[in-house]
Amino acid sequence: MPPDESPARPPSDDCWREAVLTAGLAVFDWDVPSGRIWRSPEMLSNWDYPAGPNEAVDAARAVIHPDDFPAFWTRMGQVGAGAVPRATLEIRMRSREGAWRWVRWRARVTATGPDGRPARVVGTVNDIDELWKGRDLARESQMRLQGIVDSAMDAIISVDGEQHITLFNRAAERIFGYEPREVLGQRLDMLIPARFHAEHRDHVESFGRTGVSSRPMMSRRIVTALRRGGEEFPIDASISQNEIRGQRFYTVILRDVSVRERTRRELAQAREDLRELSVASRTAREQENSRISRELHDELGQNLTSLKMDLAWLETHGPPEDEKYLRTLSGMRSVLDSTVAATRRISADLRPLMLDDLGLAAALEWLAEETSRRHGFVVKLAVDEASTNLAEPLASQVYRIVQEGLTNAGRHAAAANVAVTLRSVGREVLLDIEDDGRGLAPEDLRKKGSFGLVGIRERVYTLAGSVEIRGDPGEGTAIHVRMPIPAERQEDA
Ligand SMILES: Nc1ncnc2c1ncn2[C@@H]1O[C@H](COP(=O)(O)OP(=O)(O)OP(=O)(O)O)[C@@H](O)[C@H]1O
Ligand SMILES: [Mg+2]
Repeated sequence: MPPDESPARPPSDDCWREAVLTAGLAVFDWDVPSGRIWRSPEMLSNWDYPAGPNEAVDAARAVIHPDDFPAFWTRMGQVGAGAVPRATLEIRMRSREGAWRWVRWRARVTATGPDGRPARVVGTVNDIDELWKGRDLARESQMRLQGIVDSAMDAIISVDGEQHITLFNRAAERIFGYEPREVLGQRLDMLIPARFHAEHRDHVESFGRTGVSSRPMMSRRIVTALRRGGEEFPIDASISQNEIRGQRFYTVILRDVSVRERTRRELAQAREDLRELSVASRTAREQENSRISRELHDELGQNLTSLKMDLAWLETHGPPEDEKYLRTLSGMRSVLDSTVAATRRISADLRPLMLDDLGLAAALEWLAEETSRRHGFVVKLAVDEASTNLAEPLASQVYRIVQEGLTNAGRHAAAANVAVTLRSVGREVLLDIEDDGRGLAPEDLRKKGSFGLVGIRERVYTLAGSVEIRGDPGEGTAIHVRMPIPAERQEDA
């Protein structure tokens, strides 16, 4: 190309050049036959063109990035030769400050000579560096977001105002079994069992009206979703909403909780099985105790009684002056008496036969008398009408709890009075054991090697009841128990 004439006055078209100057545009005007190029002041002040007359190629080399120069030069050569009528290039140019900046370079043939070849090429240079940087930043943050969304363990699904799916991340693919192309643009309904469609739509619409930006969907129920194969599964989900340029969209983050739900159900089942097992084993033990207790009472008791009668006969029919004989008989009588007492005690401790023969209220009365005699405190027992004949296994458990409560009062409390109250209210029995002794400390409730209170709690829990044990030091101790009365038993009672 011939020598460059910039910044000399342009040869023609003063009018549009005035406009260019006024608008402050970076414009060049290339007179192709002469090779002269006019550059607007903006062009010269922004870009690092060498001062003074110079060859176009040198000027271009000075301002255009070496990597971009060859393509630029070829392309502009094509425009100048008439091979193409216009060109748009994105290249880097050096600014007056010395930094490379991206520009959009546009050139267009605006006049042709009599030979049909381009006579004049006019073009603009737009600095798009900021634009590109912005675009890069946007792309980068988009990619970062995409990375987060895709690496999330939870399914993330966005829908537009009409509930068409617009985003479906990897976890969603894994959980639902669909590929994005199968769901994008489809209605969210495809991921929800049909019977919940209306409810779900209402939920989202009412959420949309609230204007709240996020809300868990778990507040009242487990939400159910639908896998590709038609399998339903429980999910935990939360929903958020946003508005961009007037368009509302919703994002649901959800988690497949079928494993958790299954584990919870299995745990509840295992607990229930354990409870039943515990009840059954206690019942079996009570029955066994009852059998042994009856044997002791009936068999041993009968035999001891007949021995006592024989002894009485010997006392009246033996030699009256034989001192040694009489002393031996008297010794035998006292051994026999204590054996009878021990047999009764062991038998009653194993299982008060009264519980089976006369019912709970009678057994508790006997227990109250027995303990108050043994420990020297007053037991005030109150059993209401409805509780006098509570059925098994409730009766045995109530009896054992009262037994432990009274024994503790005797052993630990130094109490003067103990009140035992048993009532049936609705379908519950309420049992209170209160003493006026020294009370207990919180650590007593978990004393190593002590199983009385633990046993009470366990008995109550196995019958699905609740227990509260209170006893501030110096305030006495109170045990409050509530236990449900099983439906069929209630009618028996
Ligand atoms: N009525 C009470 N008054 C004061 N302290 C009590 C009373 N009941 C229980 N305690 C305290 O709580 C502790 C735990 O009682 P728990 O019945 O569990 O065990 P224990 O009576 O010591 O032994 P066991 O296993 O034979 O019942 C007792 O050792 C005692 O210190
Ligand atoms: Mg105890």
